[in-house]
Amino acid sequence: MSDSISDLLDNNARWAGKIQQEDSKFFERLAAQQRPKYLWIGCSDSRVPANVITGLAPGEVFVHRNVSNRVENTDRNILAVVQFAVLSLKVKHIIVCGHHDCGGVGAALTRSTDGPLRDWVSPIRALALDKKCLQSDFDNQKDWVNRVCEMNVEDQVTTLLQNQYLKEAADSGQQISVHGWVYSLQNGLIKDLNVSASNLD
Ligand code: CO
Repeated sequence: MSDSISDLLDNNARWAGKIQQEDSKFFERLAAQQRPKYLWIGCSDSRVPANVITGLAPGEVFVHRNVSNRVENTDRNILAVVQFAVLSLKVKHIIVCGHHDCGGVGAALTRSTDGPLRDWVSPIRALALDKKCLQSDFDNQKDWVNRVCEMNVEDQVTTLLQNQYLKEAADSGQQISVHGWVYSLQNGLIKDLNVSASNLD
């Protein structure tokens, strides 16, 4: 547990020293080029760090995180990330990884927030209503939120498969698989939602 901001810099110096000791060319290699096979689109939640939970080293995954792992066609940030990851880095897989007990999904469903955050998550509530996924169908609110967390991931996978850069890549024969996963805060395990599809399908 790091309590003070200076701890972070101390941690960093120790980490860099340890890597350098284990593999003296590590930073030199990475500085020359990044060639990740994966694009990760996940939630900003501090408990779901992409590299840590997948055991990937620096250089192995290109990461975009936002509240509730949304892929919005009006969001230039995510569109730029997908453009770069697909056309320049030529990633082979895009993973949308949500997580159960997502605060953004909960806030969307209970409308318990306001301001930009409310605007950002409101499509999730619209999605649940559109799919007729209502609280009354569940024993408790937690199960409802968790189901919508999964539904939200599935929806982002669908959106990505229609993305212009994935289509462009398909036209030139570059295959990209899109996957939908959900992470459990309870046990640290990722569940594959089995919605994987390719831009060439
Ligand atoms: Co979340």
